[in-house]
Order: sequence, then structure tokens, then C-alpha cells
Amino acid sequence: MEVIESVQKMCELGAAWRRDDEITVALVPTMGALHAGHARLIEKAKSLADITIVSSFVNPLQFTEEKDLADYPRTPKEDKKLCKDLGVEYFFAPSGEDMFPPGFLTTANVSYLSTKLEGESRQGHFRGVCTVVLKLIHITQPDYAIFGHKDAQQLVILKHMVRDLCIDVNIEAIPTVRDKDGLALSSRNVLLSDEQRKQALCLHRALKRVHFLVSKQGILHRGELLQAVRSHINSAGDQIELDYANIVSRTTLEEIDLIESGNTLVLVAARVGGVRLIDNTRL
Ligand code: PAF
Repeated sequence: MEVIESVQKMCELGAAWRRDDEITVALVPTMGALHAGHARLIEKAKSLADITIVSSFVNPLQFTEEKDLADYPRTPKEDKKLCKDLGVEYFFAPSGEDMFPPGFLTTANVSYLSTKLEGESRQGHFRGVCTVVLKLIHITQPDYAIFGHKDAQQLVILKHMVRDLCIDVNIEAIPTVRDKDGLALSSRNVLLSDEQRKQALCLHRALKRVHFLVSKQGILHRGELLQAVRSHINSAGDQIELDYANIVSRTTLEEIDLIESGNTLVLVAARVGGVRLIDNTRL
């Protein structure tokens, strides 16, 4: 595996592969602190393309709190080992200066969709995500870029950006990867104490409850389902502070009053101790 730190060098390789019709490239954008969820993204990338690039960049533009950025876990040595073991060809780890040099002024914003849900709680977050992902795509020029369903709103927004701007890349997604007990894998999970981790399970359990209410009790109304989600999370323990729970269309992120099978997302976000966690399920 080759480790590349220079944006210029990565641009040159990306451009050369793009010119070669025989070679396909998949990009797995990450902020490092890799876990089994990232391993699945990498496996997906490897199943699709000849060359897999894992980018590792803790993107300051998408953090809305200094402390969150400072506390974000960083494990570069372990990340490189995991990628090497999984047969990744290129590990792209640019510096902040190289990605966003002094005088950097340009941003990408998918308006409206970016103001809902996560965007309401973390203003400017998706502008940061879109800017860095667009730049990573321009640098590496991949045929595929791979993301997880765990960041459901991010996925909808990035697909929209690619469509709106006619970017020649296929966005692929894999289901959320969970620990045995159901907790969605996230780089932030390592920041949870044992007790907080236990209480964090309420997010997944609340989403499972929705599945039960819909499939076994035929409850399809947003209000009733959200009430069940909120009361489950609010009674889960003293460390949990629910940020939002909502039921929306998978494609437009508009709130829906009645579950539409095949087009529904139930999303939750909560602070567990100081750690912000999100989860969602598809119906
Ligand atoms: O999903 C993430 O880890 C980040 O938002 C991404 C896509 C790597 C952009 O920094």
C-alpha cells in the first residue's frame, strides 16, 4: 500500500487513472479512526474497482464545535495497518494546509436539505462535508465513492450534489454496521464510558421499537411512532439528551405523516454524556 500525503501527487495519479479506460477506481472518504464499519466500506470498494483509495482527513470545516474537533479520535498507525491488511492500494492522508491552504475561499453547499435535521443542530456541517467530499472527488477522480447508510442525511445530500453538479462518479452505500448489541459503529464510540455506552443502546432499541410497532401493531402514524421513540430514549438514563427524532422521506427528507414502505427513514440524534451520536433505520 502506498501512503500519499501530497494533494498534487494524488491529483496526478487520479488524472492518469481517469485517462486509462482499463482502470476503475473507488474512493472511501474517511476521517480516520477506522473501525469495522470502515472495513465494510473498503470491502465494497474492492468489490467494485481495481484500485481502492482510502482518504483519511479530519475535516475541520464540518465541525461546529472546537472541542468536538479536538476530541475526535485519531489513530493513523492503526488505520494504515487495517487498510494494508484489507488490500487497499492507496492511503491518502493530506495535511490541513495542503487541503485548505491559506486563502481558501470556495465552499459547496446543497442548500435546503442541509438545513434540516443534523443541519439544524450543526449549522454549516454539511457545507463542510460537501466541500471536502467535492474536493476529494476532484483530486482522486474516482469511478465510485462509498459511504454508509449510518450517515443517512449525508448520503442524500451528497447524491444530490453529484446530480446537481453533473459530477461523474457513482455514489455507492452500504448498510449501517453494528456491534453485537446493536450499537451503530462510530469513531466517536470510543469516547463513551461503559455506562454511557450502555445507555447509548437506547437509540437502536428505539428504532427497533418502531419496526415492531409498524410490522406487528400496524401503527403507521408519525406522531404515535415518534412519541414511542422519544419516550424510550428519554427514559433510558441520566446521560442521554435527545436532540431530535423524526420520520422523513428517504429521497427528499421531507417529514411524512404516514409510513410509506420502501421510502421512509426514521432518524434519531442524541448527546450521550458529551458525545453526539446519530442512528437511523429504513422502513
Ligand atoms: O462520513 C464521514 O466520515 C465524513 O463526513 C466524510 C464523508 C469522510 C467527509 O469528511
